[in-house]
Amino acid sequence: MLLLIAGVGWLIGYWQVLLFWLPLGLAALFSVALVGTIVIVKYGMHPTERIPADKKNLDAFDLMRSRHSCRSFQSRNLTAEHHAELMEAVRFHSQQNLQLGEQSVRFEYVSAALTVWPVVGAHEFLVAIAPRDYNRLSIIDVGRSLQKIVLHATPMGLATCWIGPGADNKSIVQHLGNQFDPIKDHVICVCAIGYESMYKPLFIRFFKKITQKRRSLSELFFTDPSFKSPLDTESKPYSDYGRCYEVCQWSPSSYNGQTTRCAAVTGKSGGQEKLIRFDFCASTNSRYYAAVALGIWCANWETGCAALNRRGHLAVLSTEERATESVPELPRYDVSWIID
Ligand SMILES: Cc1cc2nc3c(=O)[nH]c(=O)nc-3n(C[C@H](O)[C@H](O)[C@H](O)COP(=O)(O)O)c2cc1C
Repeated sequence: MLLLIAGVGWLIGYWQVLLFWLPLGLAALFSVALVGTIVIVKYGMHPTERIPADKKNLDAFDLMRSRHSCRSFQSRNLTAEHHAELMEAVRFHSQQNLQLGEQSVRFEYVSAALTVWPVVGAHEFLVAIAPRDYNRLSIIDVGRSLQKIVLHATPMGLATCWIGPGADNKSIVQHLGNQFDPIKDHVICVCAIGYESMYKPLFIRFFKKITQKRRSLSELFFTDPSFKSPLDTESKPYSDYGRCYEVCQWSPSSYNGQTTRCAAVTGKSGGQEKLIRFDFCASTNSRYYAAVALGIWCANWETGCAALNRRGHLAVLSTEERATESVPELPRYDVSWIID
């Protein structure tokens, strides 16, 4: 486009600085950046980078806020220690008794350059697998458990990127080999894991810019089951949950869709009106990615509550147990955080 503008400018012959030299100069700069990107990133022609420092000095909230989707990875493999610690976290968070649903979900480690978009350099992955037959709680479990693994990897200095729509299923299944049974298993998404590279193609920097924004807290948290009155997170008793709201607001979601909503519920307890639970709901009918995002949100909420020592547990309540009169079809209810 810039070259075209420069060509037209040259033909016109007026305002040469604006119509010819400026677009030509910009076109030259972008061309250098493009060639540089191809040489440096695609063919890995850059100096070997150091393993990033760990983030063990950060508190739980700063840690969750420091996580971001890494879309350019170093070519080095995880060190043996990092790999072993990661696999221990995978084993721990895959345990059936820690899941919300009754079926098990698992995370297979694959060391191969799977076909993914737009991430570059990723060559180690965790592939999230749920049972073939659709079960919403299992999909929520994938999001929740994998996010807990991500939150374990982040302080180790590891970079991660959830990849769903950008992952090629054929390439995943091919590399899983006999770790995947097409009759019983369903690949939900993958998570690239490795060390972040400072060499980032321009389009990845651009991608990051447009996917970084978040909805305001008043668009995510409400005081009523019809999601009309925003929750004042700064006033009592809601303020007791401090930065839990913020870390849910910044939790990752596919295409940054931010599809989870929360309604705080009060009720009579010991004769007094008290905050009794938070209901987490999905704002779209998406069967997979909204459920994964809700699971991720739950993991951040639980981690925040644990850091603040706010006791509670996740549970799926029936319509009778929720005792709410009229609720809209969307956001649809999934899970509650019951205050203990
Ligand atoms: C289930 C899921 C699938 C995702 N799929 C992709 C993907 O295919 N490609 C990609 O680059 N990012 C993907 N992301 C990352 C989101 O784009 C990212 O989380 C969002 O833009 C917010 O940015 P942040 O993670 O840096 O906070 C996915 C995230 C989730 C939770």
